[in-house]
Amino acid sequence: MPNITFIDYQGAERAINAASGDTVMEVATSNDVPGIDADCGGACACATCHVYIDSAWVEVVGAAQDLESEMLEVAEGVEANSRLACQIVITDEMDGLIVKTPESQF
Ligand code: FES
Repeated sequence: MPNITFIDYQGAERAINAASGDTVMEVATSNDVPGIDADCGGACACATCHVYIDSAWVEVVGAAQDLESEMLEVAEGVEANSRLACQIVITDEMDGLIVKTPESQF
């Protein structure tokens, strides 16, 4: 069961056991992780699930696809390691994944 750690902009950490096959957004919203609103419910149409992938995990998580990249253009504070949490499907290889939530979503 992969363990995902969410770190907010103030440094508060929440480690959550996730199920492979769920998205990072689903894990966050079902565990009341602040800073991920997911207004569109995971349809890649709102960008309110914007997260930063910890540098050690960028390669494992992979790059955004075209539609996700277009949505990220409307998010605030986008960086090279930005992703939309609803587009990240958790795999066993992501055990230990660290994502950070942007201040703009609090
Ligand atoms: S939940 Fe809307 S884009 Fe991810």
